[in-house]
Amino acid sequence: MGEKTFYVTTPIYYPSGKLHIGHALTTTMADTLARYKRLRGYDVYFLTGSDEHGQKIQRKAQEANLPPIKYVDQLVASFKGLWQRLNISNNDFIRTTEQRHKQVVQKLLQKIYDQGDIYKSSYEGWYCTPCETFWTERQLEDGNCPDCGRPVELVKEESYFFRMSKYADRLLQYIKDNPEFIQPISRRNEMISFIESGLEDLCISRTTFDWGIPVPMDPKHVVYVWFDALTNYISALGYGTEEDHLFHKYWPSAVHLVGKDIVRFHTVIWPIILMAAGIDPPRQVFGHGWLLVDGGKMSKSKGNVIDPIGLIERYGADAFRYSLLREMPYGADGYYNEEVLVNRLNTDLANDFGNLLSRTTAMIKKFNGGEIIAPTEQEEIDNELINMSKETQEQLDSALNNFEFSRALASIWRFINRANKYIEETAPWTLAKDTNKKARLQTVLYNMAESIRHATIMVSPFMPGVPVRVWEQLGITDVPSAHTWESIAEWGGIPAGTKINRGSPLFPRIDIKEQEGGSQVTETKNNKTDAKHENEINKEQISKEEQISIEEFSRIRLRLAKVLSAEKVANADKLLKLEVKIGDEKRTIVAGIAQHYQPEELIGKKVVVVANLKPAKLRGIVSEGMILAAVDGGSLSLISPERDNVNDGATVR
Ligand code: ME8
Ligand code: MG
Repeated sequence: MGEKTFYVTTPIYYPSGKLHIGHALTTTMADTLARYKRLRGYDVYFLTGSDEHGQKIQRKAQEANLPPIKYVDQLVASFKGLWQRLNISNNDFIRTTEQRHKQVVQKLLQKIYDQGDIYKSSYEGWYCTPCETFWTERQLEDGNCPDCGRPVELVKEESYFFRMSKYADRLLQYIKDNPEFIQPISRRNEMISFIESGLEDLCISRTTFDWGIPVPMDPKHVVYVWFDALTNYISALGYGTEEDHLFHKYWPSAVHLVGKDIVRFHTVIWPIILMAAGIDPPRQVFGHGWLLVDGGKMSKSKGNVIDPIGLIERYGADAFRYSLLREMPYGADGYYNEEVLVNRLNTDLANDFGNLLSRTTAMIKKFNGGEIIAPTEQEEIDNELINMSKETQEQLDSALNNFEFSRALASIWRFINRANKYIEETAPWTLAKDTNKKARLQTVLYNMAESIRHATIMVSPFMPGVPVRVWEQLGITDVPSAHTWESIAEWGGIPAGTKINRGSPLFPRIDIKEQEGGSQVTETKNNKTDAKHENEINKEQISKEEQISIEEFSRIRLRLAKVLSAEKVANADKLLKLEVKIGDEKRTIVAGIAQHYQPEELIGKKVVVVANLKPAKLRGIVSEGMILAAVDGGSLSLISPERDNVNDGATVR
């Protein structure tokens, strides 16, 4: 058996401005997969790069009064700087202005021309320069680009056309035969209907500007920027050149990660180019949703673009990467801002993970003089923790193979919180008071440290800066055998006698300034989903006298809310304090669900809130709404939307 190979790519971004957190999201996803597959023993090739030609860039360069190449050089340098700070482990960075790329584009185009799939005609239609996309009159929406909504320009010029239509049936068959090819399934369905509605031949050359790769058989034309750009995925592997060993090794194991905006290019145009050239299509294309920020979609004109560099500087690459991947729901858009990052940092990273390390090293120091001693008195509860590591590894693998980054992290955090709970349950501080319990105490302390080791290896693809710091504190920097994925198939990788080095917190908490004068507190209601109250209304018979009119019902304003954060309420074992977002509004809600939900599993969930109940104080906290739950005897389940096509703020009726 040959070595398992994994080829992962990001889009090559336009150097037409600075990169924002959306670009950082795709690249972090790709990096996480690359690191995970390397950890699992794959031979990985991870490619990113820049898409430097085309009308948009030529115009930007003109505006900046620079030759195009000078203009893109500066921006490409900033791209590379960002990826370095984000700890991106790409094997190569391809620029479409490089000779190695241009020659492959020309060869590919010539090859398709020679076999008769490219013909000359004249193009008349519309063009969106920001998207670098051709549109027909019929496709426009209110006269604007149907993708970005911006104005389009009329284009009328002699062009070369690619016979895409000829391959439509073959592509459709390929998509149907390979259900894995387009992920998630919703995008696959969209593409199937798009192709079924009919494919037109694609214009693949332009003559009205010259910033591009000359068409080999007719150099007054430049290659259409998308034909040029898509080819990067094989030009970087040396396709069609003498140095093509990377191509033979990694193609077609490619996984292209892209935003939903460009799924069509990658699943329709790209595979057809490859088919026409006799090359296998890539193995997979995953199209993630948009990161939405305050004000909706990020755009320069709205002034709501978030610069990743500032966030990395303030909170570190690991916390930024974690928050991006944790917040992004699978297959849908995700909401993001600095507060979201800080909440994740304070709860998941500082409270759950950081604290686990800090408590563990503190107790090993206090009770064992800083030494990790071999476990000798195993109990049933230990097995539960040990088995959970194995289950978590399996969940992590299946989630990442499905591009479910948030679910993968949620699984790891369930394990981390199991370990935290293990400390509460075993109560090492009590064991330490009884000399007869010394062996048991040492076993518990060992298991605590070992669970941190397991969690650290599992989080390492997401937060590559973490292992070095944890190994230092656990005292296993010089034990490489304890750093591998294989080593967590077993429990017991920390050598007995290891000396820990207690260090500074892994993720220091960030203090959030109190919101001014409760301006966010709107006049609404309290929560009474308290367990006692639930039982009263549970299984209640609805008698005729209690019927209400539709008008009465409509006075109750039910809205969809997204849970931004959740935490236990001190000294109240049934209560959770939630921060939720209802459209543009944020509210605090206290809910009596602590015995049914762990705070961390609620984060990101959409729930139904009674939005116009009078606020009430619960344990000193003003609760501004009530969350709906179905209650059946001792079981409770929150009510969540059944599809992802509705956002928080939506009315429920
Ligand atoms: O399209 N949320 O480059 P581009 C999530 N050069 N991801 C986002 C995002 C957001 N709000 N905004 C951008 C191009 N992205 C072409 C690609 S590939 C052969 C050529 C990410 O600079 C997302 O991955 O416009 C999207 O597909 C990409 O940035 C677009 O980057
Ligand atoms: Mg774009």
